[in-house]
Amino acid sequence: MVAAADIKIEKIQVSKLLELSLENLPFGRYFTDHMLEADYINGEWTNVSIRPYQALSFEPALSALHYGQSIFEGIKAYKTESGEAYIFRPQDNFIRFNTSAERMCMPTVPEEIFIEGMRQLIEVDKDWIPNRKDHSLYIRPFMFSTDAFLGVRPSTTYKFLVILSPSGPYFAAPMKILVEENYTRAAPGGVGFSKNAGNYGGSLIAARKANEIGYDQVLWTDAFEHKWLQEVGMMNVVFIIDGIAVTPSLEEGTILKGVTRDSVLTLLKKRGIKVEERRISIDELIEAYKAGKVQEVFGTGTAATIAPIKEMKYKDTIMQFDTDKWTIAPAIKKDMDDIKSCAVADENGWMFKI
Ligand code: COI
Repeated sequence: MVAAADIKIEKIQVSKLLELSLENLPFGRYFTDHMLEADYINGEWTNVSIRPYQALSFEPALSALHYGQSIFEGIKAYKTESGEAYIFRPQDNFIRFNTSAERMCMPTVPEEIFIEGMRQLIEVDKDWIPNRKDHSLYIRPFMFSTDAFLGVRPSTTYKFLVILSPSGPYFAAPMKILVEENYTRAAPGGVGFSKNAGNYGGSLIAARKANEIGYDQVLWTDAFEHKWLQEVGMMNVVFIIDGIAVTPSLEEGTILKGVTRDSVLTLLKKRGIKVEERRISIDELIEAYKAGKVQEVFGTGTAATIAPIKEMKYKDTIMQFDTDKWTIAPAIKKDMDDIKSCAVADENGWMFKI
């Protein structure tokens, strides 16, 4: 077990922040001065340090590159008007990270490294937290296998890192979505519920084909019938149908247990909106759309928070939404923003003070 005092800190001489303005930032392009690093060797975590952000060096036989033992999380930190820094629900991401680790045959990371290491890292780079609407410090914890060995088996060594990226909004505008009928993101028994790198790599071709015909992303459907709705792009999806928020349920193991998904469902319920976590098919959605009952459709995820969908295409059916007229998604987004900026009481205990 690593106590807080065991994390060595080596600071940079001159901050890169002198060359960067924290206004109008793109997502995930810039990185702060420091990173957290730890090694898993001989069955235990060691070498826990915060050091200058820098390139890593590995053998070409690095097992993560060949067999994909590689997982990550996405978390955000915010700064209030008075300059206090908070992380949004890091404990939930910590639990999910270790769920992903177990699925991918990787060691779990102790809280002392994941949470306390992240906290100390952000404290060191606190000046990098943007204080601007829709901006945050995006936190990327990740772990990958490091054995230099080409046999297919779980690696015996791993590296865990946390890097930080001051970021603006992920999506600039409401999305156009193509319902995916050929490619599959996840099947029962697979790795869809885990946040492993391969899930994202495997999704790229579908997104590229959607881009080629003018759509931003795909709405994933199940592996067998391509009719049961799963996720939108790399986000969970919520449909407001006849005043009820419907979202695909988690029990099949094909859907990521989104922390933003859970936050949004909690806030919807708080506003008195009924939430149904259940199977929903494209046929049900189209029927509801034709009956004028589909009011709002949006993705939820850490990077985008709430991403409105203005158009969905399935075969010859095009569903269009006037996102300017929506009331529910903007209200939930405001509820989230108010909690994150500490403008309202944190009734759910989501804000972790640094
Ligand atoms: C998220 O928003 O939850 C994500 O994982 C997005 C990330 C892959 C950029």
